[in-house]
Amino acid sequence: MSTLLSGKTALITGSTSGIGRATADLLAERGAHVIVSGRNAERGAQAVADIREAGGKADFVQADLTSADSARTLAEQARSVTGRIDILVNNAAVFPEGGTTDTPEEVFDTVYATNVKVPFFLVGELVPAMAERGAGAVVNISSFVADKAAPDRAAYSSSKAALNNLTKAWAKEYGPSGVRVNSVAPGPVLPEEIQAAVAADPRAAAVTQALPARRFGLPREIAEAVAYLASDEAAFAHGAFLSVDGGAGLA
Ligand SMILES: NC(=O)c1ccc[n+]([C@@H]2O[C@H](COP(=O)([O-])OP(=O)(O)OC[C@H]3O[C@@H](n4cnc5c(N)ncnc54)[C@H](OP(=O)(O)O)[C@@H]3O)[C@@H](O)[C@H]2O)c1
Repeated sequence: MSTLLSGKTALITGSTSGIGRATADLLAERGAHVIVSGRNAERGAQAVADIREAGGKADFVQADLTSADSARTLAEQARSVTGRIDILVNNAAVFPEGGTTDTPEEVFDTVYATNVKVPFFLVGELVPAMAERGAGAVVNISSFVADKAAPDRAAYSSSKAALNNLTKAWAKEYGPSGVRVNSVAPGPVLPEEIQAAVAADPRAAAVTQALPARRFGLPREIAEAVAYLASDEAAFAHGAFLSVDGGAGLA
């Protein structure tokens, strides 16, 4: 186990599966005490059990992140477990498919609530204490579609563009107080078992054939970028956008 993040505490939203789960595993492996969060208590408990079994420190705080209040409650509960939060990873997101005309208002509102509003209020709640201590890191999980746009998921891709703007605003707002705010933009990523399950699906092949990498990414490959930006190794990175996307974001 590496000690790069030892003594640090990290809240990773949406860490009951996928990229968030891999990030919780990796930050814990590097020595951080992680707060795993999500709606699904069973997967949350499993993540905590696995991390502890591997020698790491983890606790689960359940949260359905759909409003400013839910963000504030999660921040409070996470802080009450670890005493303080040094690293915030804004990862939880929803990404419903659908053309603009077919997207109902409530779906649009859910996308913006979980993907934009919740990160906004989590930062508002947790970063002032980091700034007071003169140190902290926020990593926002964006997407290659933030710049490219996604015609089949316009609400989603625009929510990630909004998050990118917030990354820049927060880097400028909080950087002078010692809090670094950066972003990782994944490309198409699937857990190993799902990659195996879709291997024969021509739609999956169409996705990978369009990528310079010619394959899906793994959640762990995104987590490595998050762990870097969260660590002191990235001390001079402020407002960085790190694409880990197999080349998906290339024009
Ligand atoms: N996978 C990709 O290809 C890809 C590509 C580009 C960007 N991204 C970005 O990477 C991030 C993670 O994606 P993923 O593929 O790992 O997704 P995922 O496997 O579906 O995981 C999403 C996580 O978010 C949580 N979540 C969703 N809605 C929530 C809510 N209302 N309240 C609390 N937690 C909620 C889920 O937890 P529960 O189920 O427990 O609620 C889950 O842990 C997202 O920001 C996504 O936009 C992914």
